[in-house]
Amino acid sequence: MRKQIAAANWKMNLTYQQAEKLFDELLEEPISLKEGQEAIFAVPFPYLIMAKSEVDEMHGFHIAAQNCNNKKSGAFTGEVSAEMLQSIGINYCIIGHSERREYFGDTNAIIAEKVNICLQHKVTPIFCCGEVLAIREEGTQNAFVQQQLEESLFHLSESDITKIIIAYEPVWAIGTGKTATTAQAQEMHHYIRSVLASKYGDNIADEISILYGGSVKAANANELFAAPDVDGGLVGGASLVATEFLSIIKALK
Ligand code: PGA
Repeated sequence: MRKQIAAANWKMNLTYQQAEKLFDELLEEPISLKEGQEAIFAVPFPYLIMAKSEVDEMHGFHIAAQNCNNKKSGAFTGEVSAEMLQSIGINYCIIGHSERREYFGDTNAIIAEKVNICLQHKVTPIFCCGEVLAIREEGTQNAFVQQQLEESLFHLSESDITKIIIAYEPVWAIGTGKTATTAQAQEMHHYIRSVLASKYGDNIADEISILYGGSVKAANANELFAAPDVDGGLVGGASLVATEFLSIIKALK
């Protein structure tokens, strides 16, 4: 059975003190995840160690970085490597978020390298894909997302592809309050799974968690997560509010 995952993406928000307070609020009442469920918090780099110590004892809770560099190490001032993440016990990293693609030049080819370097260091990539509004309006979103998968993931072996978490995040739904309908999300998730199946076979495609991201909140999580191919969510804005994110975790199948 594939994992059901609620992943928080804090982006570049919260001071250290606010981050600690949010963890206090989130962990005030012990949340017990069911078997096969996970809660992942992608926090800013300076908070990774603090965040890890907050959830260390909690079954199914993990901390993620929001990005890493595509190179192993070296003269890349200001960058953070997958090896550094591994060395502080961080086992997850968001890769290829649309904001990295838009503002920081992440191409499908660079993202493929980031996926590889993460896997080499036992860091699970949370690989983001998704189309901008113009592509959706043109009706070519399936081909667009397929190309993202092919160019960044399809060089992976059968054993490596099962280590990836995919997040489908239509760019037009991120931070806009405009969520994809459950039907739109299910349709794309089903399509992604069919593309994975045609490359790797049904059994492997069935094992890979595909999260939906884009204005997920407590009010729509139940319906979205109930869709058969939606295995949870990658949540930005609503993950900064403890009550919202707790309800989102509870909405997992
Ligand atoms: P949002 O962000 O939930 O604020 O739309 C989602 C994301 O960018 O991962």
